[in-house]
Parts: sequence; structure tokens; C-alpha cells
Amino acid sequence: MRSSGRNSNRNYRGAGNSRDDRQQSSGRPRPEERRYGSGGGPAPRKKRAAPARSREYDAQIEERNRARHDKPAPRLPKTFGDQEGERLQKVLARAGLGSRRACEELIDQARVEVNGKIVTSQGRRVDPDKDEIRVDGLTVATQSHLFFALNKPVGVVSSMEDPDGRQCLGDYVQNRETRLFHVGRLDTDTEGLILLTNHGELAHRLTHPKYGVTKGYLAAIQGPIPRDLGKRLKAGVELEDGYARADSFRVVQNTGRNYLVEVSLHEGRKHIVRRMLAEAGFPVDKLVRTRFGPIVLGDQKSGWLRRMTNTEVGRLMREVGL
Ligand code: URA
Repeated sequence: MRSSGRNSNRNYRGAGNSRDDRQQSSGRPRPEERRYGSGGGPAPRKKRAAPARSREYDAQIEERNRARHDKPAPRLPKTFGDQEGERLQKVLARAGLGSRRACEELIDQARVEVNGKIVTSQGRRVDPDKDEIRVDGLTVATQSHLFFALNKPVGVVSSMEDPDGRQCLGDYVQNRETRLFHVGRLDTDTEGLILLTNHGELAHRLTHPKYGVTKGYLAAIQGPIPRDLGKRLKAGVELEDGYARADSFRVVQNTGRNYLVEVSLHEGRKHIVRRMLAEAGFPVDKLVRTRFGPIVLGDQKSGWLRRMTNTEVGRLMREVGL
């Protein structure tokens, strides 16, 4: 199943750019290569056989680890004296584009764009987390935190470690200098978009019911389906742990008895889409998450990891008031 939309991921060299960060998943991720500013290092660790533990126990361990590692981020100063942002040439130099002097020359040569506009005069200030900066048309990775989008394949467990040695999210981001967290979970048999970051507050807000971030799913079900199925899902279906409502519903494809439907909702209870559709009489054969707030899966291949663009990160931050 594929969703619409497309993500542009051409990043300017180094600093954990998206091409370096992509890992193909023909079952397992590639060992990491050494790369500027994002770790690299020894060969992938070996899996240990360990006693089975419940998913709840794993979740507790992860919550504890998150609290332990979730130190407040070293925030870059947003103001310098009475001026906002950081000097563009300084941000470019830190991203590995050369000395500050060399970066000033890039600006003089009209090779630098900020949010789609060429900058030619010196003295421009930017927000390295939110402004989209390009050199020669290629995005420069200037974020002070790491933000990744993974297309999780079926069979991968939504945890950073798995004591039973099953393939898990941690396998896709090994050997990083900083600890990453996954933003919410997908069932092991659900595939699609899952976000990973070391920005603890963002991860927390994106999954907190208070912020009600919308998630979009494509579900394969067997028809025929009644005309009012969407209406019923939007009105709410009663589940054992209370009512659940869809924000939107539409039929994307219908070939004979096979239906592909798109459901969006802003809550994150376990198996919520499968349970809602099953309760309505349509058990799900296959489920893919195609959207998380403003971030779309697009044509990102199964098992590939990509660095999110500054524009995407800016949108995510605004979504939860950061
Ligand atoms: N709803 C489900 O049923 N499964 C998921 O993985 C996510 C949402």
C-alpha cells in the first residue's frame, strides 16, 4: 500500500544527512557507516537471548530510561543582544560548510537560500531548528536535535531494545552518540510512519492526549461496506475501554470485495484502528500509518530511515506549541 505525497530529502553533505541515514531493510538494517556528527563506530551489536518480558514491563523500562536521559536540551540562544537568531555564516560553518569566512563567500556568491529565498547580504540571522537552509539547492542539516522518520516494516517491535532478540526500532538507529526515543508505538503487525527523536519534550507532547495530534492510517478490509460506515466511525463506536471516534474516513480504493480505507483519528489507544473497524464488523487485514500530524509517509520505502527537514520539524513543533 502506498500513500500520496512526497518528501524531498536531498541534504547537503555530512551532519547526519538523509542519504547517509537511510538504511534498507531487506529484513535487517545495514550496519552504520562513519558519518560527520552522528556517530558511526563499531559493528552492530549481537543479540542476546534473554528471558521473555511483557510489553508493559518493556514500556516501564523505556519510560524510566526516557526520564533518565531526557535532560533539557542544550538550547541554542534565540537572541543575541537585542537581535533574534544566530548569524547565518556561523550556522553554516557549524554544519560543516567551511570556515565562517568561507561561508560568507557562499552568501556573497548567492549560493545560500533561507526558506526559499536567496540571501546575498551579510548579517542575516536564522533559527537553526526551524529555518530551511540550502546551499546550491541542497538542504543543510542545522538542527540541534535529531529528528527521524522511519517506515517501520511489519514484524519490527516498537521498542528501542528487545530482550527476546526480535528486530526492533533500535536496530535502525544503532551507534548514535545520543539516545533516541520513538514517538508512540505501532503494533508489530502494523507498518508505516514512526518518528524517532532525542527531543524528549517534543516526543512527550506528540503522544500526550492533551495535544490530540492526528494520525492517519490506510486499512485493508473486506467489503461490501455500508454507505454509512464513515458516519458510524465518526459518531463513535463503543469499545471495552470507552468510545472511540474517527476524525475522518474515506474509501481510497475498491477492487471487488477488497477495500482500502483511510481513517484518521487523534487518539492513541492500543490497537485502536483495528478495534474500531472490527467492532464495526470489518476486521483489518493490513494496516499502514501514513501520517503523523503534519508528517507524511509519502513514498518512503519500507525499512528506510530519513532525517526530517527543518520545515517538517518546525511544523511538528508548532503543532504542539513548542
Ligand atoms: N491502531 C492500530 O490498531 N494499530 C496500530 O499500530 C496503530 C493504531
